[in-house]
Amino acid sequence: MCGIVGYVGKEQAAPILLDGLSRLEYRGYDSAGVAVYSGRDQGLNVHKAKGRLKVLSGLLDGGAAVEGTVGVGHTRWATHGAPSDENSHPQVSRSGKIAVVHNGIIENYGELKAFLQGQGVPFTSETDTEVVAHLVEYFQKDGADILTAVGRCLRRIEGAYALGIISADEPDRLIAVRKDSPLILGYGDGCTFLASDITAILRHTRRASYMDDGEAAVLTRDGIQCYDHLMQPIEKEICQVDWEIDAAEKGGYEHFMFKEIMEQPEALRRAVFPRIRNGEVFLEDFALSDEYIKSLRNIHIVACGSSYHVGMVGKYNLEKMLRLPVEVTLGSEFRYMDPIVDEKTLVIVISQSGETLDTMAALREARRRGASILSIVNVVGSSIARESDQVLYTWAGPEIAVATTKAYTTQLAVLDLLGLYMSRVLGSMPAEERRAVLEDFKTLPEKLEKVLSCKDGVQYYASQYFNRDSVFYIGRNVDYALGLEGSLKLKEISYVHSEAYASGELKHGTISLIEEGSLVVALGTCLRLFDKAMSNIVEVKSRGGDVLALTTESRAAEMAKTANGVIAIPDAHPMLLPLLGVAPLQLFAYYAALMRGCDIDKPRNLAKSVTVE
Ligand code: M6R
Repeated sequence: MCGIVGYVGKEQAAPILLDGLSRLEYRGYDSAGVAVYSGRDQGLNVHKAKGRLKVLSGLLDGGAAVEGTVGVGHTRWATHGAPSDENSHPQVSRSGKIAVVHNGIIENYGELKAFLQGQGVPFTSETDTEVVAHLVEYFQKDGADILTAVGRCLRRIEGAYALGIISADEPDRLIAVRKDSPLILGYGDGCTFLASDITAILRHTRRASYMDDGEAAVLTRDGIQCYDHLMQPIEKEICQVDWEIDAAEKGGYEHFMFKEIMEQPEALRRAVFPRIRNGEVFLEDFALSDEYIKSLRNIHIVACGSSYHVGMVGKYNLEKMLRLPVEVTLGSEFRYMDPIVDEKTLVIVISQSGETLDTMAALREARRRGASILSIVNVVGSSIARESDQVLYTWAGPEIAVATTKAYTTQLAVLDLLGLYMSRVLGSMPAEERRAVLEDFKTLPEKLEKVLSCKDGVQYYASQYFNRDSVFYIGRNVDYALGLEGSLKLKEISYVHSEAYASGELKHGTISLIEEGSLVVALGTCLRLFDKAMSNIVEVKSRGGDVLALTTESRAAEMAKTANGVIAIPDAHPMLLPLLGVAPLQLFAYYAALMRGCDIDKPRNLAKSVTVE
């Protein structure tokens, strides 16, 4: 999705903006631009280019070619209007004195455009954003200053927006505005920053404030003044961001995705170890009382993409541990259903970025219906974290690759820990079993290291199968949920068509797709269903399909008698096996994409943080 960076200080702005934008490339984009105030003679210097940031950077000699110490930059992910130089941001007002960068969508832009055109304003792009630049200028007709004009503009625009606005008439300040799209303010020494994602400014400062919906801010080199939705001055808390800069760098790896796959054992240690004390689960700042937990009638998990797949595994595990009905719904569907959610429902929201718009909309709908919201989030201070009643952070560190890996494993681990915690309160699981799971939990990072150390074996299988047209993932119970994730990983980065099915469904129709040359990834880690998994493998093989199987070490030899290839993971408590089983699936997708020459960290059409509906 789009990215915003802004800078007001004493240094040359353009190189800082371009560097910041380069840190946001992982979010996905199709064009980029900057606007810098270059003095009274030149006014606003606006440069935009379709394509990768290096195109723009090349045009500007890395920013050295643009004078000025105040500016805004943007990476655009096209929504209104195709990727092109004209549609790139910043969008500029008719006089050329106001430049705007925007994340989100101005929903009533058509009506506003018609109004402005009626006033004789010519439009040069197809974007919704251009109306903001013209509208701010329109509201300055009576000589209003930029902040007042922006305030008037906000009363007219509808939709979601994070805006960075610069005016040649007031060149020592940047205006920032937020509604339903994240925006972060950074405090440096003699300078201030604006960013849609903390990674853009982490090299310059760790002191940041998170803007809330309806707020505006004026950034100058001496500080930042924030305003509430009535444009009354407010004080914002300044937080210290503790993410390591190195964590957002490739550190010698060819791809972020591979680095993040390999970081999983350490991420698990961070997510799990501090939360197991004296043989029980300890959840930091946990505000859900035992009485509340005992009063619950059901649990509803909402999430999108891989986070939804975590919820699918969670449904099996939580229902087993808690004996409460658990429903899992896609964030994009939730608000359009009539979900059975009220004050006796715990809604668990899962999101790596904490900014996914569909998930956020589901959260708000659940709150409106009276539910308590507990979120499992990676990005500290993100919108979903801030709007939840209770947050459990995954502490996975920055995840840059579009394909999520370490966020998936840590989300799942935290969800399991939550289930174990609640099962103690509810008395719904024998204490010995709970302790056994917790004991096993502590061995997981080491076991995961072992799985990852066998990456060459997975690479070999990828080399055998990377050019298949279609890949089917099958499994039962948690293996089915795991298959959904394996399939998504493969299709999103390698562009190989893949589907995941519950194995039992094959005979109800989908087996007609299996033919000579089909690859089926058969997941058989769920040992109580091992025989069923074997039968499905035989069914596939007898129809000419090839089978790559995944099971535990104790059953690998047996599976190898029938499957074409077997990947083995260490044995562990059944509930924890998806935490180990996902790693070979991630590696398989990674190597397949590598062999197919795909852009692994930035797959086509995708964005890391999906902030539009
Ligand atoms: O940040 P979120 O966890 O809310 O993101 C949800 C999905 O967009 C995300 O998991 C997506 O499916 C990933 N690209 C999967 O690798």
